[in-house]
Amino acid sequence: MAQPFELHGHRGARGLFPENTIPGFRGALGLGVTALEMDVALTADGVVVLSHDPILDPALTRDPEGCWLEPPGPMLRDLDAATVARFDVGRVRPGTAQAAAFPEQLGLDHVRLPRLDEVAALEPRAMLAIELKTFPDHPDRTVSPEAMADAVLAVLDAAGAVGRARIISFDWRGLRYLRRIRPSLSLGYLTDAETVAAARLWWDGSSPEDFGGSVPRAVAAEGGAVWGPDHATLTRAQVEEAATLGLLVNPWTVNEAADMARLIDWGVGALTTDYPDRARAVIPGAP
Ligand code: G3P
Ligand code: CA
Repeated sequence: MAQPFELHGHRGARGLFPENTIPGFRGALGLGVTALEMDVALTADGVVVLSHDPILDPALTRDPEGCWLEPPGPMLRDLDAATVARFDVGRVRPGTAQAAAFPEQLGLDHVRLPRLDEVAALEPRAMLAIELKTFPDHPDRTVSPEAMADAVLAVLDAAGAVGRARIISFDWRGLRYLRRIRPSLSLGYLTDAETVAAARLWWDGSSPEDFGGSVPRAVAAEGGAVWGPDHATLTRAQVEEAATLGLLVNPWTVNEAADMARLIDWGVGALTTDYPDRARAVIPGAP
């Protein structure tokens, strides 16, 4: 039987709600996503929190007095979880690129960075698509991919959520490690132009050159079942090649209805979007 189509809400539903927040994930669930995409970081005391960047992003963050942080923002790895919880990430700073990019995004107050365990408790039917944000070109910004993977897995084990989790990353070191220590875990191999161009760095020694220039073949050689390419450079031929390899293709971040419809027509099995409302309108059979 064909797998049901996966609708992943990017950072919750970033186009509509504050990213990587509990209200944002609740909003995304209300719009019918089947999976919550999120980014994780570790605090100084080892707590897994949600953040796209390894810093408290000044474009999103107000201090306990309500003042916007100034760049570059403190590193999360230098702050303990109690300190992180005092900051407000409920709205985008006016005048920033993020504010211009997501003009419909709801602004809220008194919203803190959630912990992964809190998000795991939200909706037991939702897939948790958890992106390990580690950077082989900037190892100083985070713990090692193995340490981040261990911390995430510990939270999922404690929550009984391993079976509905998918760990995704551009940095394939963490995915290789997880495949070794927990072979049953669902893994998604993210790619974009930058990491493909520097694949030996991002893919732990592997490269498309080793596979006739084929990225999907490189994913399959890792033992991967899910490929998460940047939709902007994805081709129909790649989607078809991935299908012959048995890969589920999950392009990101697809925000225009015409692109969604085209990719579905090509045969992708999942979409990650900032606008789940737009996606539901084009996914065949969506309620
Ligand atoms: O799901 C992959 C996608 O989230 C990657 O982009 O930068 O938003 O984490 P980014
Ligand atoms: Ca992400």
